[in-house]
Amino acid sequence: MLNGKKILLGVCGSIASYKSAPLIRLLAEAGATVQVIMTPEATNFITPLTLATLSKNPVLVQYYKTETGEWNNHVQLGLWADLMLIAPTSANTIAKMANGLCDNLLTAVYLSAKCPVYFAPAMDLDMWKHPSTQNNIQKLISYKNILIKPAYGELASGLVGEGRLAEPKEIVEFLNQSFGKMLLLAGKKALVTAGPTFEAIDPVRFIANHSSGKMGFKLADELANLGAEVTLIAGPSNQETQNKNVKRINITSAEEMLQQCLTYFPGSRICVMNAAVADFTPKIVANQKMKKQYQNLTIELKPTVDILQTLGAQKKHDQILIGFALETNDGERYALDKLQKKNLDLIVLNSLADIGAGFKTDTNKVTMIDKHLQKTEIGLKTKTEVAVDICQKIIQLLNK
Ligand code: CTP
Repeated sequence: MLNGKKILLGVCGSIASYKSAPLIRLLAEAGATVQVIMTPEATNFITPLTLATLSKNPVLVQYYKTETGEWNNHVQLGLWADLMLIAPTSANTIAKMANGLCDNLLTAVYLSAKCPVYFAPAMDLDMWKHPSTQNNIQKLISYKNILIKPAYGELASGLVGEGRLAEPKEIVEFLNQSFGKMLLLAGKKALVTAGPTFEAIDPVRFIANHSSGKMGFKLADELANLGAEVTLIAGPSNQETQNKNVKRINITSAEEMLQQCLTYFPGSRICVMNAAVADFTPKIVANQKMKKQYQNLTIELKPTVDILQTLGAQKKHDQILIGFALETNDGERYALDKLQKKNLDLIVLNSLADIGAGFKTDTNKVTMIDKHLQKTEIGLKTKTEVAVDICQKIIQLLNK
């Protein structure tokens, strides 16, 4: 994906600047041309000579070349690049980027850049957590800059927490995934639900289903790979998202999922309800563990709220709402019924009757039916591939 791409690599002053060296190596190995721009402070942490040698290009630091007085044309540089990556990005540079300050070549090029801009912060955990940094980061995201989240780990201060620059290998993987797909969903908010819900009977026991969450997690990843700002509301699941930009909210019960969906749905352009939400929940939850004194035990259940139908009823014309239908028989009939009843734009049908489809498998076989009743059958594929196909359909629906 990065082969032949022209990359502006901005390097800020940070202990993590040393990681720029292996990062350049990896970018060059991927076939990219790298032009390094350092802030003056960064040169105290790693020498321009090292980065120039690795990138096979003179490193730019000042607005002009001191020997010849020639201008380092930031406008030209901004136009030249296919993408700009600032790694590490210090809290100081993030603040400047968020507020349009350009007191060095790097920030001037940033303001001139027409290409996608990725930034990988590195700082101490308290600086990272500070509301001013977080506000600045939100501003950058609203400018459609793409955050490569810092990792959790040991920091230069000796403290342990969030703030470590993502590893060069992860940064390159991130670029490959997201830039490769040209970020067709950049600037769009997406809400995804995944996994089962657990409905408590008492403090020890619950009613659940076999959902692993795999399909929903793949969908969240794929939407984020396309540049969407994804919130994933996940029931109990041991799955992890690959794309670090997915914001995950863990819930347990159908009621908790409903409350989170009601919070996030109004601001979301895309909503994919993949979760296997329990249809019933115990009428009474025992406060203490129920002892096995009974010969027969009847647990009375009451229906849960149908989250998808609730969202469908409040959907605005520019929102895309997608539901799933897991059926054992008469799949298409039931799916069409759900499409209409829940006011959906698309329903994705999978049948437990199909080998390799449904719960826990790494594969799925689905049929998508949109609100115009256009049907797309997708043969057996990995859940990642199915997520790619569903996202392509979402892009089509958004462009209609
Ligand atoms: N769904 C929901 N809230 C519920 C139940 C289901 O939001 N309480 C959503 C699921 O996330 C899925 C869609 O509705 O996207 C269909 O779920 P499914 O279990 O197939 O169907 P139900 O509507 O629950 O109907 P039935 O169980 O009778 O098939």
